[in-house]
Amino acid sequence: MAIKEIKTSKLDPEQFIAEKVVEISATVGDGLAINALSGGVDSSAVTMLGHRALGDRLKTYFIENGLMRQGEPQRIVALFAEFGVRVELVDARDKFFAALRGVTDPEEKREAITQTFYKDVFGKLVRESGAKHLLQGTILTDVDETVAGIKRQHNVFGQLGIDPQEAFGYKIIEPLVQIRKDGVRKVAAALGLPESVYNRMPFPGPALSARVIGEATRERIALVRQATAITEEALADTKAFQYMAILHEDRVTGMRDGKRDFGLQIEIRCWDSVDARKAKPTRLPWKTLRELSGRMLKEVPGVVSVTYNIAPKPPSTMEVV
Ligand code: XMP
Repeated sequence: MAIKEIKTSKLDPEQFIAEKVVEISATVGDGLAINALSGGVDSSAVTMLGHRALGDRLKTYFIENGLMRQGEPQRIVALFAEFGVRVELVDARDKFFAALRGVTDPEEKREAITQTFYKDVFGKLVRESGAKHLLQGTILTDVDETVAGIKRQHNVFGQLGIDPQEAFGYKIIEPLVQIRKDGVRKVAAALGLPESVYNRMPFPGPALSARVIGEATRERIALVRQATAITEEALADTKAFQYMAILHEDRVTGMRDGKRDFGLQIEIRCWDSVDARKAKPTRLPWKTLRELSGRMLKEVPGVVSVTYNIAPKPPSTMEVV
């Protein structure tokens, strides 16, 4: 069934929130629901909607998949505690790295994350908690790109003919599926979330594994995590829609201390966009790029090459995997 889009210009956040709270309450009845909070604007908005609708009958988890950014799990748990939302940290790092072992193809990588997340980790949490519903923050752009066959977004099922009840043993509720990123930001602000959350830059479900070309091992994720922290610091003032560091698979010849160094390549991407459907590389000042490259070469072990992507989406996509 086609999803009826609510255009951001037509969105009344208060009315939207009131309707979704009623819908969630009606669907879950007097049962329990669970959800995963990653700290991004989508899952944060869903968490607040779910709590308004269900109170303590919504169990919120932060899945530590080993692919998150520096300091992220603790930061999110502390932030939501301020709103009276208890977030339980689930350590699933070994499961995710086992599923990603030897996987290099982008779509296979996305599928490995999806299966681990929904079948393995959430299947178990659902069985243990007795919940029958999972609330999640799928937005319309996720559905569009998956249906168009561009990228298998980690959180899209129904539109691909997958019945979550059959595949994973629970039903999925998607309160944000009629809106896009700019709409979610409005809803998140109306839910009382701070600007650091509602204006937060998007981050993909497959997390840092989407920022590593080739196999996402613990070591390579650690490298891209460090490169991501440097990039986010260096570009924080740009007001761009999204920026990221990518670790390439190919090595290139470089030199260090007068000797050959067959080293690593980091690609920087920084995007101007409204809703992620189309995007253009931000015209960053040369000084910003030079300083960023300087830090990358100095602080991330083994890096000898730093590039800046200048291709727009399309034909590029924002993430590299
Ligand atoms: P692409 O790479 O498709 O990204 O141009 C468009 C926007 O979507 C984010 N993205 C994802 N978000 N699950 C998500 O929740 C995913 O699997 C996923 N893949 C990409 C990406 O960061 C960008 O903002």
